[in-house]
Amino acid sequence: MPNLTRESVAAWDANDPLAPFRGRFAIADEKLLYLDGNSLGRLPAATPDFLAKVVTEEWGAGLVRSWSSWVDLAGRLGDLLGTRLLGAAEGEVVLSDSTTVNLYKLASAALAASDSRRRTILYDATDFPTDRYVVQGLVAERGLTARSVDPSELPGALGDDVALVVLSLVNYRTAELHDMARVNTMAREAGARVLWDLSHAAGAVDVQLAASGAELAVGCTYKHLNAGPGAPAFLYVRRDLQSALRQPIWGWFGQQDQFAMGPDYDPVDGIERFLVGTPPILSLAAVQPALEICAEAGIDGIRRKSVRQCELIIELADRWLAPYGISVASPRDQERRGGHVSLRGPETWQLSQALVEAGVICDFRTPDVLRVAPAPLYTRFTDVFDAMERLRTILEQGDHLRFPAERGRVT
Ligand SMILES: Cc1ncc(COP(=O)(O)O)c(C=O)c1O
Repeated sequence: MPNLTRESVAAWDANDPLAPFRGRFAIADEKLLYLDGNSLGRLPAATPDFLAKVVTEEWGAGLVRSWSSWVDLAGRLGDLLGTRLLGAAEGEVVLSDSTTVNLYKLASAALAASDSRRRTILYDATDFPTDRYVVQGLVAERGLTARSVDPSELPGALGDDVALVVLSLVNYRTAELHDMARVNTMAREAGARVLWDLSHAAGAVDVQLAASGAELAVGCTYKHLNAGPGAPAFLYVRRDLQSALRQPIWGWFGQQDQFAMGPDYDPVDGIERFLVGTPPILSLAAVQPALEICAEAGIDGIRRKSVRQCELIIELADRWLAPYGISVASPRDQERRGGHVSLRGPETWQLSQALVEAGVICDFRTPDVLRVAPAPLYTRFTDVFDAMERLRTILEQGDHLRFPAERGRVT
């Protein structure tokens, strides 16, 4: 990137087809540089009024009558998400519970349906801890074995003892993006299933569930999909597998004709069999305006801008931060990198605190990673440039050394 100046970067903003989407978000503080959309996405401007309407009209006026439309809201939003942003067909994605709970439900269902001689779960120990804990819980519950594997070593690890592979499409710490089709093919040939965690991928990269041969996936909606803190997660089960899988929590939202109040559990033949109980309608409703923005912008354009913004972060990190011992911990090959860039170095926890004081929000992940996530729908190229410049100034002046080295409860 020769002639990289703030003016040249401002020209990218002027020609950015996604630039108008920033106006679709509530930006309470124009000066704040928010580069943490992979942790909690911004509030869509339409969401407060949309939710107020759900509260006053559907809950307040409609009362219990509103259940006639609420009852299949999770499936309608699942279809919107699946078909527009995840490369799935209708009836393959549904919103429910949290990512952790969905991971447990699908992993447990896959294990119950697999050959009982296959007693091993492979997982990547560098993935988000909740995935590891769920695997550990299943191992304890079912008397299985879990083996951590670096995804590059999967071909050798996929023996005839393996039932399930649990893997994040985009690694939360490094942003490494795996080759979904390749992993699915390898696992299928070895007789194992793959359960993908798409939390850092959904709304950031072009996920192609059907085309890549994916069978099972889960993910959250509060990061790049902007549905709000604690918004319901999603799960995906390929259509032809659904009736063969039975999840472990037998609840009435998965039951055939649930209001028949039948005596015994007899799950729906469809994606709703993976539902459990009454969904949190207010949080679920907030998913709709958020998904509509992403669907309208289109995942191709989002990904294109994301790649360019991440390249800008990498270029500026090499130029400005490397002399201070900060290095790029994410893959440099865009094909192997998701929607954020991780920087590694000494005192990154203190740096993240100094950045907040300087009006820049990124986040820190132990032991030494500063994650910089430019969400393309509301982040300008100049925001990225300015944030990196503030980071350089902090390092130049040693400002971060004033902040406590001891980690806070939330990072
Ligand atoms: C890859 C991944 N999986 C799961 C989660 C969280 O799961 P839950 O929504 O159940 O807390 C996160 C949260 O950051 C995550 O990054």
